[in-house]
Amino acid sequence: MDKDIKSLYEKLLKHSKVDAVYAYAPGRINLIGEHTDYNGGYVFPAAINLGIMTSVSKNRTNQVKVMSLNMDNYFEFNLNTVNTVKYDGWQNYVGGVVSQLIKHGYSLEGFNLCITGNIPIGSGLSSSAALENSIVIALNKLFSLGLSKHEMVAISQKAEHDFVGVNCGIMDQYGSMFGKSDNAFLLQCSSLESTFLPVDFEEYELVLINSHVNHSLGDSEYNVRRKTCERVASKFGVKYVSELKSSVLLAKKSELTKNEFQRANFVIEENKRVLSAFTALQEKDLKTFGKLLYESHAGLQFEYEVSCKELDFLVESARSSGEVLGARMMGGGFGGCSLNLINKESKMFKESITRTYLKKFNKKLSFIAVKLDNGARIINDE
Ligand code: GLA
Repeated sequence: MDKDIKSLYEKLLKHSKVDAVYAYAPGRINLIGEHTDYNGGYVFPAAINLGIMTSVSKNRTNQVKVMSLNMDNYFEFNLNTVNTVKYDGWQNYVGGVVSQLIKHGYSLEGFNLCITGNIPIGSGLSSSAALENSIVIALNKLFSLGLSKHEMVAISQKAEHDFVGVNCGIMDQYGSMFGKSDNAFLLQCSSLESTFLPVDFEEYELVLINSHVNHSLGDSEYNVRRKTCERVASKFGVKYVSELKSSVLLAKKSELTKNEFQRANFVIEENKRVLSAFTALQEKDLKTFGKLLYESHAGLQFEYEVSCKELDFLVESARSSGEVLGARMMGGGFGGCSLNLINKESKMFKESITRTYLKKFNKKLSFIAVKLDNGARIINDE
């Protein structure tokens, strides 16, 4: 067992019954392809070596008793009233998964659930998908539900739609479930066809810079962006805007609002960038790959308008440092981390960006070097 996972396991062990099932699900990064998933396009995610672990055991009641070690927070609810309980923040992910399982006709009994993790929350690394997936795979094992990984991904996603109110795409839950060590994968989000690609950045490394601007997609414009794209798709009589050619969109520009045109144009261009980035990595052309990351950020900043001044500053500083091959905001936006492909020898960049960021925004930065890791799994077997 990996040493970080072992330390999560040991923490949970102290709070769990002897017969507990332990499950772990990682967060994810996304190399490129933002806001393309719910638009039926391509994404290029990978699971990472940070995540959430849960333990579950039956408690011979009809109550679900939940303890979060990181939040130092306890709550419980009855299985019969799962849909009427008032949940607070992260508790929605628990209620959401349990509610979906019941809705799908799976019969559950009361259980104790204990949660811990080492993934920063609200940083665009999909701590919520990690939480949902770790709960659903733990319950699948505990109650022998016989769910496939694809079914569990769908339950996690639906929990987020119905309980949390974010109409997210499939990327986060899928990336967290299906990740493979040292690989990223190209995922076509409407067919769910995926192609793994071993990733080696040679003298460069992937570093996440946490802006410490915490985003909450529920409060953000996320759902608004999705609605706008769906409206454009229906105006063109297609299911997803990613199906449109740039020339077709341009020909009808005058029939669209400024926002509608910009959002759809971004999705079409971003989708092309994902495919170019995949080819660039296959050909080990890191320079082109880096350039595509910067272009993706520009689109997210100016066309899709989901960045923020802190992230723009981080990406602009990366570009002008000469030590970063590519950088962009990652995830839903409005805060969280930027993704950077930094020269391993680089010394000046981290130091100087930390200093200038503190001066400008009065906030500290943190750097997270990530490894690409395996997806969600039961830990008892390891
Ligand atoms: C969030 C959502 C994903 C995806 C990204 C943006 O992480 O959960 O489904 O839409 O934003 O790419």
